[in-house]
Amino acid sequence: MQLEEAMYRRRSVREFLDNEVPENLIEKLLAYAMSGPSACNTRPWEFYVIKSPEKRKMLRKTTRYTDYASSVIIIIAGNTKHMLPRQFGDFWIQDCSAAVENILLGAVSIGLGSCWCGLYPKKEAVQSVRDALGLSENIIPLGLIHIGYPAVTPEPRTQYDEERVHYI
Ligand SMILES: Cc1cc2nc3c(=O)[nH]c(=O)nc-3n(C[C@H](O)[C@H](O)[C@H](O)COP(=O)(O)O)c2cc1C
Repeated sequence: MQLEEAMYRRRSVREFLDNEVPENLIEKLLAYAMSGPSACNTRPWEFYVIKSPEKRKMLRKTTRYTDYASSVIIIIAGNTKHMLPRQFGDFWIQDCSAAVENILLGAVSIGLGSCWCGLYPKKEAVQSVRDALGLSENIIPLGLIHIGYPAVTPEPRTQYDEERVHYI
């Protein structure tokens, strides 16, 4: 699939088939994620691939908006040990977000559906994911990504709005 098509076809999918996602496709998604840009190429991310049904059940309850029956969940988190020093700012958020978008676009391009659910900066959601996965304080979960074979196919769209474009 061409990139342009993937961009418009990428929609949040919240209903999934039961089929398992093969390991090699998950690895592909992670490779897409880690090929992304990051400030000073710090790559401050960690990826937790949750296949365990028990852990997925726990993670679905993280917030009111994370409760979807996907086949696999990827938690992307910032690792303070790999972030730029504090005085340079919180660029890790942008680094990790770019990696998430690569996963979402990559997923649609290989026939998978996905839904990005925000965690950081919701303190309770961040701590709840840490507790569920036994993560230490230096790990800051930024997002929870549901992945699976889609049971629904939302309409592709651009949302292009010329009023939000400013040529100067
Ligand atoms: C930072 C961020 C947080 C989001 N959090 C959630 C969430 O918690 N639950 C959810 O169902 N969708 C979540 N979404 C998906 C948005 O609701 C969705 O992208 C938006 O409605 C546009 O729809 P589309 O993805 O189909 O284009 C989130 C998206 C972003 C970028």
